[in-house]
Amino acid sequence: MSTTTREQALLGARDLGITFPGRRGAPRARAVDGVNLDIGKGEIVALVGESGCGKTTLARSLLGLIPPTEGRITFAGEPLSYSSRALRAYRKRAQLVLQDPSGSLNPRHTVYDAVAEGLRIHRTPGDERTAVARALSLAGLRPPERFFLRYPHELSGGQRQRVVIAGALALEPELIVADEPVASLDASVRGEILALLLRLREELGLSALVVTHDLGLAWNIADRVAVMYLGRIVEAGPVEEVLTRPRHPYTQALLSVLPEAPGEPVVLSGEPPDPTNIPGGCRFHARCHILASGEAERAGVADACRTKDLPVLGGHEAGVACHWATAREEAATGREGDTSREEGASRDAGTSRTRDTSRTDDGAQGGDVASTAGG
Ligand SMILES: Nc1ncnc2c1ncn2[C@@H]1O[C@H](COP(=O)(O)OP(=O)(O)OP(=O)(O)O)[C@@H](O)[C@H]1O
Ligand code: SF4
Ligand SMILES: [Mg+2]
Repeated sequence: MSTTTREQALLGARDLGITFPGRRGAPRARAVDGVNLDIGKGEIVALVGESGCGKTTLARSLLGLIPPTEGRITFAGEPLSYSSRALRAYRKRAQLVLQDPSGSLNPRHTVYDAVAEGLRIHRTPGDERTAVARALSLAGLRPPERFFLRYPHELSGGQRQRVVIAGALALEPELIVADEPVASLDASVRGEILALLLRLREELGLSALVVTHDLGLAWNIADRVAVMYLGRIVEAGPVEEVLTRPRHPYTQALLSVLPEAPGEPVVLSGEPPDPTNIPGGCRFHARCHILASGEAERAGVADACRTKDLPVLGGHEAGVACHWATAREEAATGREGDTSREEGASRDAGTSRTRDTSRTDDGAQGGDVASTAGG
């Protein structure tokens, strides 16, 4: 497991903004609105959040598929260049694994052709057959020759997803971006695909950004998690910290609805977020249960919640963008002084629970991963 530092970040986004023009006079949509995000070498970062919060837009932009309106992206310390030649070279190093294997595989192409396609596009030197066999093996389709002449309809959903992953691996990328990699799979094969991604990190040192709205998946696979709300990352940190001690009310609400979460689920009120109309103050304030319940008022931050924007979080360190969380933590630090050390120790004891990686061993059932995240 790795900790990203600014020096070792393989992929980095700084002050990234992506705005889509409104159709027929509609206002512009600020789908990504000030994001810093680093992914270290060999690190798996999960990007989580509700539908429409901007995950796919951010992920596609990190791959050079959507040029940012603001900010910049760097890969291996170099700013991304958008010339077609530079992008073609970049797409070898950073590969997209799509959400729906049946949609991303051509039904008329054999497995061999599907995996070889990228090699041909990139005119990769070397023996094509060897490269395809290697990629299929790495993706767990063994012996690879048995799969060469099969068609997508002859494969299971899990095998199709492995073919898609093999197609990405054939180009020997340094990073993959997987957008909802198991969302369309049966629970029984989810664990296998997650285990595969973890094994690729171990064996190849591959970095990954895994986009998901499933916090359980994040728990099982990621080193770090970034929680996105309405175009911004509102909380980020090591996965155990964020998912066992969520600091942002939005993260708390997402976790509270998982099947085994303790206490009452927090049902988010208010309008679903709309990137054409981002509220002032904290962008979550109209739906925040901490503000609605008077807790923010008691902490003396209710006005700030409604009127004061929050700073954009850094790309690699743990952080939370919430007036209440910050005030609470500052008050706790002030109050506790020396006793904070004791509390830190008991908190650590409380989080000695480690991720149940046995769930994601090859062949394991991954269906109830979500239930482990609630605490
Ligand atoms: N090409 C586009 N033109 C206009 N608006 C867009 C475009 N692509 C995305 N959006 C808007 O940007 C916002 C973010 O969309 P995005 O697909 O990134 O969300 P997401 O977090 O990936 O959601 P999901 O979990 O449903 O996949 C949405 O409001 C969406 O309607
Ligand atoms: S800043 Fe205020 S409104 Fe926003 S999440 Fe925190 S408590 Fe809620
Ligand atoms: Mg998406």
